[in-house]
Amino acid sequence: MEKILVLDFGGQYNQLIARRVREQHVYAEIRSYDGIGVDDIAEEAYKGIILTGGPNNVYEETSPHYDPKILDLGIPVLGICYGAQLICFMAGGKVSSAGSSSEYGKVRLTKDDTKLFLDLPRESVCWMSHTDYISQIPEGYRITGRTDHCPCAAMEDTSGDIYGLQFHPEVTHTEYGKDIFRRFLYDICGCRGDWSATGFARRQIERYREELRGKKVLLALSGGVDSSVAAVILHKAIGRNLMGVFVDHGLLRKGEGDYIEKTLKGDLGINMIRVNAKERFLKKLKGIWEPEQKRKIIGEEFIRVFEEEARKVGPISVLAQGTIYPDVIESGKGASAVIKSHHNVGGLPEDVSFEQIVEPLNQLFKDEVREAGIMLGIPPELVFRQPFPGPGLAVRILGEITEEKVKLLQEADAIFREEIGKADLDQKPGQYFAVLTDSRSVGVKGDARFYGYVVALRAVTTEDFMTADWTRLPYDLLECTAARIVNEVAGISRVVYDISQKPPATVEWE
Ligand code: XMP
Repeated sequence: MEKILVLDFGGQYNQLIARRVREQHVYAEIRSYDGIGVDDIAEEAYKGIILTGGPNNVYEETSPHYDPKILDLGIPVLGICYGAQLICFMAGGKVSSAGSSSEYGKVRLTKDDTKLFLDLPRESVCWMSHTDYISQIPEGYRITGRTDHCPCAAMEDTSGDIYGLQFHPEVTHTEYGKDIFRRFLYDICGCRGDWSATGFARRQIERYREELRGKKVLLALSGGVDSSVAAVILHKAIGRNLMGVFVDHGLLRKGEGDYIEKTLKGDLGINMIRVNAKERFLKKLKGIWEPEQKRKIIGEEFIRVFEEEARKVGPISVLAQGTIYPDVIESGKGASAVIKSHHNVGGLPEDVSFEQIVEPLNQLFKDEVREAGIMLGIPPELVFRQPFPGPGLAVRILGEITEEKVKLLQEADAIFREEIGKADLDQKPGQYFAVLTDSRSVGVKGDARFYGYVVALRAVTTEDFMTADWTRLPYDLLECTAARIVNEVAGISRVVYDISQKPPATVEWE
């Protein structure tokens, strides 16, 4: 399979670069600049190399640099932002601080007709984010694009193998970004496009059919898309030798445990057991108010239950996990130094040892996992489910968790989801849910005053959940939802709508 190396210098869009390449049906692999040497790059027979952006100043000694031999391998190289400045630095040109000419945001680019920009308009919009610039191009290079403030927005060497772009083609604001990737991959690197997530999933099925023949494999199922797709791949490969364990901690949304069981076991035929462990979790959570402590207790209890079930089903030598490619990169194999901030339910039991761990999705991005999921016949409702935190409703019930509060929240949340489902919205919010606050307020039902809980509704519009805006839901929809919640859920007296943005607020309330 042809592949492109994305050499990571720590920029925030590096995963996006790899995704853009894969969208063009070419496999891209992200490696940290300090994790692979130039000889290994030559050995691996990459069709092309992309040097990513990064937060450093290339002229500082402590900044990440690379062996200049990378430019002599005969493999086409595309440097983006810091990557372009690094090419300039390695080839003997000059990079300087742009001072007040720094550019950030959409900028007009004027470009020449070159192989990389073939047939693209002479003027277009590109997206810039830089405080340094290429002040003198290396010998043997020429400038092929410029903006009002950046004399070298694009350059290439005269052999036509090495390219540098000061702007970011991977960001959708760059009008012809996709075309530029296409030219680089197909016209310059000579790729033919043999990658697809669905092809990958099919190959994984074949591979595990051989590799795991006669072995029993354990997999924790959460009902989320990753563990479900991993389960279907393994189910198709090894059938009943896959043993899925679905730990229902009782903090799922209304009807969700049954839906997960019905879909995975009933419809898809996966060999799995459901453990109803609500009582255990509620007992452990009694008297706990602090959100991080709730997360920790749930994470630990989850592992306990999983371990117990694993022991019950007898000796199992292989553990499968739904790890996806961003988890692999974020766990330190890339340079972006992203620290996982969320404690996810489903960690690896520490004192149960397995001979082998398999991760069927560890080369796929989230959207590729979804694509594979659809091809494998998983229902779209499950594949495109909104994200749901591992600790479940525990982080949506402020203060102490009780069975009564879980029930109230499940009912209120179900009404909100039902109303959103029915509404004719152009686009559904990225995530939407109800929160049970720890406040009570006065209400009047019939002729009687009563004290009920205040429920908050949260709906956010977001691309990546790192930043989020509150969704401008129609007033009628909010009104109808609020009226139904107060009327139908005894114990709730008031409904409010959360209009906080992230940052500074978070999506979840705890
Ligand atoms: P925040 O609240 O940090 O949420 O803005 C961003 C995204 O992460 C989800 N989230 C979690 N997911 N375990 C998870 O698996 C957690 O503890 C957790 N906390 C937040 C949240 O639902 C949103 O999609």
